[in-house]
Amino acid sequence: MSMIRIESLDDPRLGDYRGLTDAALAKTRSRFIAESTVVVRRALASGAVPRSFLVDERHGSVVAELAAAHPEAPVFVGEGPVLEALTGFHLHRGALGSFERPAPADLDALLEGARRVVVLEDVAEHTNVGAIFRSAAGLGIDAVLLSPRSADPLYRRAIRVSMGTVFSQPWARLDTWPEGIAALKRHGFEVHALELTDDALSIEELAARGPERLALVLGTEGAGIRPETLEAVDGAVLIPMREGVSSLNVGAAAAVAMWELRAR
Ligand SMILES: C[S@@+](CC[C@H](N)C(=O)[O-])C[C@H]1O[C@@H](n2cnc3c(N)ncnc32)[C@H](O)[C@@H]1O
Repeated sequence: MSMIRIESLDDPRLGDYRGLTDAALAKTRSRFIAESTVVVRRALASGAVPRSFLVDERHGSVVAELAAAHPEAPVFVGEGPVLEALTGFHLHRGALGSFERPAPADLDALLEGARRVVVLEDVAEHTNVGAIFRSAAGLGIDAVLLSPRSADPLYRRAIRVSMGTVFSQPWARLDTWPEGIAALKRHGFEVHALELTDDALSIEELAARGPERLALVLGTEGAGIRPETLEAVDGAVLIPMREGVSSLNVGAAAAVAMWELRAR
């Protein structure tokens, strides 16, 4: 491992850390950025392959220790304002790691043997995606699936909010949606949309029935579940709420539903 003091922002080896505030660009890249020493540690523990690290002076020694097993990945050190000029944002947590994106998981392998699956239908906010992954990991969800238009779980904000659980929680992106519902049914899942529809069951009613294999579809912020998805699923399920409140945040609704509908 080598510690390299940043001499010039034009150093081509710092290319991984430019344009980090552009989420669309990040999705197309073959790498991801882990932010904070905790998340860098979790990325390394998951077996992700580091390309390099970028730290301020306060975090140099911690990251150097974490990176010790990866001598091929340099640790670049700079002062706060230098790092901010490079990345375009203030590095509150003082440490970034750039990693190779892992190969996508195989959908059939993920669904084989799974009992609880959550599907994100066009969930657009990285913070919601991160929060849903954190809850899924903590509440025993076997796989998280994402519609093509859902936000990237490996964007740095999603990773940070998930506290790095995106590295341990099995997940896959679907090629098509809602056609992907067919794959879930082929694997024997009952597929329910988490949505406030007039004909929805309450989550207590569905939990009492205790489906053996359940896939729960979460809707996008704002518009909620698409009409064609509501047509294609086996039913809708809702979290009863106090009168006068139209809905919960999708991340909060997801956590309540994952707990109530957990496999027992
Ligand atoms: C913020 S809501 C979408 C807006 C909602 N359709 C409305 O008209 O207020 C986003 C997603 O959160 C979930 N959600 C929020 N509150 C819910 C509740 N009480 N019961 C079931 N799902 C809920 C659903 O999956 C929904 O599609």
